[in-house]
Amino acid sequence: MAKFRNLLAAAIAAAGLGLAPVPVEAAETPAPPEHTWQFEGVFGTFDRATVQRGLQVFNTVCSACHGMKYVHFRNLKDIGYNKDQVEAIAAQYTVTDGPNDQGEMYQRPAEPTDAFPFPYKNKEAAKNANNGAVPPDLSVITNARPGGPEYVRAVLLGYEKAPEDANLSPGQYWNKYYPSHKISMPQMLVQGVVDYQDGTKATPKQMAHDVTAFLHWASNPHMEERKRLGLKVILFLIVLTAMLYAVQRKIWADVEK
Ligand code: HEC
Repeated sequence: MAKFRNLLAAAIAAAGLGLAPVPVEAAETPAPPEHTWQFEGVFGTFDRATVQRGLQVFNTVCSACHGMKYVHFRNLKDIGYNKDQVEAIAAQYTVTDGPNDQGEMYQRPAEPTDAFPFPYKNKEAAKNANNGAVPPDLSVITNARPGGPEYVRAVLLGYEKAPEDANLSPGQYWNKYYPSHKISMPQMLVQGVVDYQDGTKATPKQMAHDVTAFLHWASNPHMEERKRLGLKVILFLIVLTAMLYAVQRKIWADVEK
């Protein structure tokens, strides 16, 4: 209804003033606020302490509903964990394996070669538990959404009191940055939900920053390698240009005289 009213208002304004109507979606969902990340820029890297805290948030909070089917526990050694630590983190998760000799599927603790499992038996069970919405796989979420990490961080912090005419169904929450505003994920990052191992104060903003940085690593595990290679290529091109210039000067030195 609100959408229709806005559309009508925009159409009237456009007819009256000869202006193009404002796109309704853009007008309704504000752009996520700018945020500074350590991984930005040519020299940006994933700060190990940040992404490790982000993993702690994911393990403690997000993994109750979300999986990451393209992120394997063994990949965690890229963010500073050794073999034993990777095994210990994997063992906190349960995966379904099989069939065994009797043809039955069975549950076992996850191993480094497993991916972060989807915690529900199937999509229907997930829907049933989440007001009809399936918690999406978060493997590439910061690449998959327009607005990237800024958007993910904004949604995690964007819970507000719903307007009077919002008509939320039970199990829906009002989120300033979610496209329809009505999201079936409750506000998860509240004070006290995580107790950081490294002593950092786990405010909602800190947790949102850390877990989003972790998810951005998950989406772009080769970013650091790519940037390093890019820099090497540029350095090589500079050296090559200098050498070619020197050679050119030498070759033409006599001719110019
Ligand atoms: C209680 C279950 C639950 C938990 C815990 C949970 N989520 Fe969600 N999440 C959902 C559901 C359900 C949706 C789909 C919402 C919808 O479609 O309305 C969702 C959607 C999302 C989205 C996608 C938004 C979009 O644009 O589609 C992101 C990103 C997300 N969750 C991140 C997280 C992170 C990060 C955490 C941990 C801090 C987390 N979630 C914890 C249930 C959960």
